[in-house]
Amino acid sequence: MEIREAKLEDLEDIYRIEISSFEDPYPYGLLKAFLYHPGAYLVVLKDNRIIGYSIGIIRFGNLGHIVSIAVDKDYRRKGVGSKLLDETIRRLVNMGAKMIRIEVRESNIAAKNLYKKFGFIEKEKIERYYPNGEAAIVMFLDAVKYLQR
Ligand SMILES: CC(C)(COP(=O)(O)OP(=O)(O)OC[C@H]1O[C@@H](n2cnc3c(N)ncnc32)[C@H](O)[C@@H]1OP(=O)(O)O)[C@@H](O)C(=O)NCCC(=O)NCCS
Repeated sequence: MEIREAKLEDLEDIYRIEISSFEDPYPYGLLKAFLYHPGAYLVVLKDNRIIGYSIGIIRFGNLGHIVSIAVDKDYRRKGVGSKLLDETIRRLVNMGAKMIRIEVRESNIAAKNLYKKFGFIEKEKIERYYPNGEAAIVMFLDAVKYLQR
């Protein structure tokens, strides 16, 4: 398994994973635009095939924001998401992040468990955040403490 920065030619694969992972996927153009935003836009490959991606950006100089993370359905529950999340956090910290923010659907048990396992704490609930009216749970990680553990 290899994790590297995403490139323009990865977008078709990233979009394939996006549309099969989310009921309200980001448009292709937005996934492309993040390539030009400062942060950590990563892909994970197995046997030269992209099986997951994450988008982490830096906001206000010291806040890391994980905008999206997804793993191909066939490769879930094998530690891929954990490796990707760990690498994204490390890169955001190297870019100055002290805290990491993430929003997650209230019903997304898999993602909430993953973030809790990493030490993310639930801080806020935003009602009707998603297009279908579902609430978002906003979670934060003390990234400095995370690296020290
Ligand atoms: C969330 C996601 C990225 C996790 O990726 P993954 O490669 O399956 O994660 P891992 O194998 O590293 O799992 C790590 C931990 O996450 C939690 N977890 C992952 N899948 C889970 C599931 N289906 N049910 C409950 N907990 C789950 C567990 O705590 C797991 O640890 P364990 O295996 O020791 O129990 C993946 O499920 C996914 O792509 N989902 C669709 C996209 C999405 O919802 N992204 C998050 C948006 S906020």
